[in-house]
Amino acid sequence: MMDYSFCGNSGLQLPRISLGLWHNFGFADDYETAREMVIHAFEKGVTHFDLANNYGPPPGSAESNFGKIVRDNLASHRDEMIISSKAGHLMWEGPYGDGSSRKNLMASIHQSLKRTGLDYFDIFYSHRYDPNTPVEETMQALVDIVRQGKALYIGISKYPPREARKALNYLSERDVRCLIFQDKYSLFNRKPEEEILGITKEFGTGFIAFSPLAQGLLTDKYLQGIPDYSRAADPAGFLQKEQVTPGLVEKVKQLNVIAGQRGQTMAEMALAWALRDERVTSLIVGTRNVAQLKDNLNALHNLSFTQAELSQIDTILDGASL
Ligand SMILES: NC(=O)c1ccc[n+]([C@@H]2O[C@H](COP(=O)([O-])OP(=O)(O)OC[C@H]3O[C@@H](n4cnc5c(N)ncnc54)[C@H](OP(=O)(O)O)[C@@H]3O)[C@@H](O)[C@H]2O)c1
Repeated sequence: MMDYSFCGNSGLQLPRISLGLWHNFGFADDYETAREMVIHAFEKGVTHFDLANNYGPPPGSAESNFGKIVRDNLASHRDEMIISSKAGHLMWEGPYGDGSSRKNLMASIHQSLKRTGLDYFDIFYSHRYDPNTPVEETMQALVDIVRQGKALYIGISKYPPREARKALNYLSERDVRCLIFQDKYSLFNRKPEEEILGITKEFGTGFIAFSPLAQGLLTDKYLQGIPDYSRAADPAGFLQKEQVTPGLVEKVKQLNVIAGQRGQTMAEMALAWALRDERVTSLIVGTRNVAQLKDNLNALHNLSFTQAELSQIDTILDGASL
């Protein structure tokens, strides 16, 4: 069964594993597989679905597909779901389709609500810190989005620590606390441990990790080369072939031995590891089919690590990053 965790100091519980729709849910992908994944996830207690305006390809199509899946299959379950979206990366041409200005966020949430056919998002994020927009402008737009009822909660993603602190302070002074911080976190990206996890804890904000499998590298799929059906082999995929280096693959081979000793697949152990810190509310996994989703959900069967296992893992990683 799914485990749920309170998101920071809020009353909102999130599943320890959430489903992300960055890849595999666009018009370019197989709709039936996308539908199966969303329904299987929901049936297994994955109540949280993570979108963004630009997910596809083409951009926007993951929101359109998800909206259709919900309308046609899960409409009566809307109150049992947490649906998030984001704005901040390039979405349309011209000076207003990119960045974190009030104009971009307000126009984007209108578009996203229209595409999904939803009345509101549960969580709406500023997708990135934009050095060309004052943090106050972005945060006030988020506050107003909540006041207008277009989102119940707000979040920020990938803000550097200094700007994150500024944003969280601005929000808490306006009684619209930041529910959640979204950042890249995995065995191959431990940066949030340096400052961000401490900041989110201090502000009572939850933390949700994206790419907890390092886009698939932290599974057994690249141990014998790059398979045809993989993100690294897909020219539209965000993971580049060159990022699958022999050095990283060698580390995954060694980690996979520990996973085997724990009775887990590599993916299961990587996810369990990312959940070992109680400050991590949830992980957003991406999947290309239901089999991957099932594998990932099995991680929840064994979340505890011995000190010896953690030290062995640290020794293997030796600062490796992707
Ligand atoms: N805030 C942000 O800026 C940001 C950025 C990135 C992502 N995100 C969010 O985080 C979500 C997850 O990101 P992600 O897709 O990079 O996460 P991920 O879970 O690290 O990687 C997902 C990919 O790994 C492979 N995979 C997953 N489970 C597997 C398994 N059990 N066995 C073998 N391969 C497996 C699949 O790739 P193959 O195609 O190779 O099979 C899958 O598409 C996104 O959908 C999005 O919602 C947010």
